[in-house]
Amino acid sequence: MKPADYESESILHQYLLFHYGSDRDQFGSWSPPAPADFPGRCAAAALELYGPGQLLRALDLGCAVGGSAFALARRAERVIGIDLSQQFIRAAEQIQANGHATVRRMEEGDLISPIEVRMDPKIERSRVSFQVGDACALPSLGLGQFDLVLAANLIDRVPSPRAFLNALPSVVRSGGLLAMISPYTWLESFTPKTEWIGGREEFGSRIDTFAGLRFFLGPHFELVGRKNLPFAIREHARKFQWSVADATFWRRKPN
Ligand SMILES: C[S@@+](CC[C@H](N)C(=O)[O-])C[C@H]1O[C@@H](n2cnc3c(N)ncnc32)[C@H](O)[C@@H]1O
Repeated sequence: MKPADYESESILHQYLLFHYGSDRDQFGSWSPPAPADFPGRCAAAALELYGPGQLLRALDLGCAVGGSAFALARRAERVIGIDLSQQFIRAAEQIQANGHATVRRMEEGDLISPIEVRMDPKIERSRVSFQVGDACALPSLGLGQFDLVLAANLIDRVPSPRAFLNALPSVVRSGGLLAMISPYTWLESFTPKTEWIGGREEFGSRIDTFAGLRFFLGPHFELVGRKNLPFAIREHARKFQWSVADATFWRRKPN
């Protein structure tokens, strides 16, 4: 799969279902391999670790069609969702305007079922704004600082994880929280192997991605939590991608 696939219509509908579909919408009568609402569970885990303090600004990097950004708005007064895919951002803005969307759910082959998905009406959608942007060029976006930054399933999808990680201290305020969540599915079609921060051997030593994160984030952030977050993405009625994301939570050290 190439990054440009995030502009294809089939992946748009796959992500709309993944972000907004219920267990029943996604898994039909199968017992769910993982609970639905991964974006909501990522946001909830980050908000729990953030604690009860005031939360003015949150940032969702690689927000796709917006599920986590809206879930962060349950607590945060303002949320910005950033994604490189123009069609994902357009879809996030449409669901923000309408509160619902029609998803073309894949059954098998050419067979598709239309499914209506709906956002929780209790979420104040006006708190969220979306923009197309590159998480590897954060300084050029001039976003300022945030109380909470979430990057779910992004680190293994960018061409330059180091550029991405190195810019994170500038967007998380001192004492703020960074949620870095990923199953570490490294693929050369997204990230050249020379750029992988884990999942490879270097001078005979096995480097895993958690060790890579500690190396790059450690000077600026303290690890304050870690948990497994399983999720499943529907390919069709009888095929699902089951993954277990490593959710790590980092408190920004004072400058
Ligand atoms: C695997 S999806 C994860 C989406 C969402 N966070 C989730 O957990 O469902 C990766 C997302 O990152 C976006 N993306 C890839 N490279 C990016 C970059 N350099 N900057 C911003 N977004 C990027 C893709 O368009 C896609 O929406």
